[in-house]
Amino acid sequence: MKKMFALLMALVMVLALCSSAAAEDLIKVGFAQVGHESDWRNANTENYKGVFTAENGYELSFVDCDNDNAVQLEAVRSFIEQDLDYIIIAPIETAGWNTVLAEAKDAGIPVIIADRNVDADPSEYTTRVGTDMVKEGETAGLWLAEYMAGAEANILVIEGTVGSSAALGRSEGFNNIAKDHPEWKIIDSQSGDFTQAGGQQVMESFLKSYPGQFNVVVCHNDNEAYGAMDAMDAAGVTYGVDGDVILISYDATKAGLTYTLEGKINCNVECNPIQAAFVKEVIEKLEAGEAVEAFTLVVDEAFVAPGITSQYATTMTAELLAARPY
Ligand code: AHR
Repeated sequence: MKKMFALLMALVMVLALCSSAAAEDLIKVGFAQVGHESDWRNANTENYKGVFTAENGYELSFVDCDNDNAVQLEAVRSFIEQDLDYIIIAPIETAGWNTVLAEAKDAGIPVIIADRNVDADPSEYTTRVGTDMVKEGETAGLWLAEYMAGAEANILVIEGTVGSSAALGRSEGFNNIAKDHPEWKIIDSQSGDFTQAGGQQVMESFLKSYPGQFNVVVCHNDNEAYGAMDAMDAAGVTYGVDGDVILISYDATKAGLTYTLEGKINCNVECNPIQAAFVKEVIEKLEAGEAVEAFTLVVDEAFVAPGITSQYATTMTAELLAARPY
């Protein structure tokens, strides 16, 4: 009995030693995530948690910054203090990063800017991975121009978070196209903070301020579009392919594309949240001592409702929707 016990204890000690050695071998990565403001964000978070696992050789320190810049800066500083191997930042806003990026650089910790961009010289961080948000805006604009075929457009925009590269880029891209269309008028543009509640609130206020004066609504993400749809439903305003208002959205999440397939969203420009594998690839290269590109582009598509054909977007089908991973 005593022998058995001693054997068991020895086995437990060996296992403990092995697992602590394994834990030491893991690459320690800190991820300062924007928050949980949208379905897109949640899909992006799940993607990171599924890729940066112990089985894949990583220990992930994840901080949901709840759309608060101060919390995000604090999270990055705590990663530096903990001397993690890599820091991933999905910046809430573009501004205000120079000091903390310099601190990470001084500490010798590579920083990967993910999803959104920062207003800092690329020499201040290691690399960036994300979608082209200006191009997303241009795609929405090009599709609208093709669909309107010269007809007047009175446009209301529900923007994303003020100061975020996602909102700035989509506005810039859309405006690049709008400037060539004197028959378009952007009546108003307000932030819905990328949330459903924000989208609904802004749309309710637009409906009061501009009754019957608009025929296009552009929402910077799917959740804002759901809020805008609720507000228009309550006001008896019809939208989508059979409606009075053309509805454009960004993200192309599964729920957003379900509405696109139903014809409620005319055009949905993708922002691909499945980005973690690209970041992992960058880290693997750095671990191997290889050089990395300054920017890794995550490619997007665009989708339009059934009955619409476009050179800029794919017409939605039930098969396409079933195949969507998020
Ligand atoms: O930065 C990506 C944007 O942030 C997505 O479009 C939006 O849904 C999210 O909140």
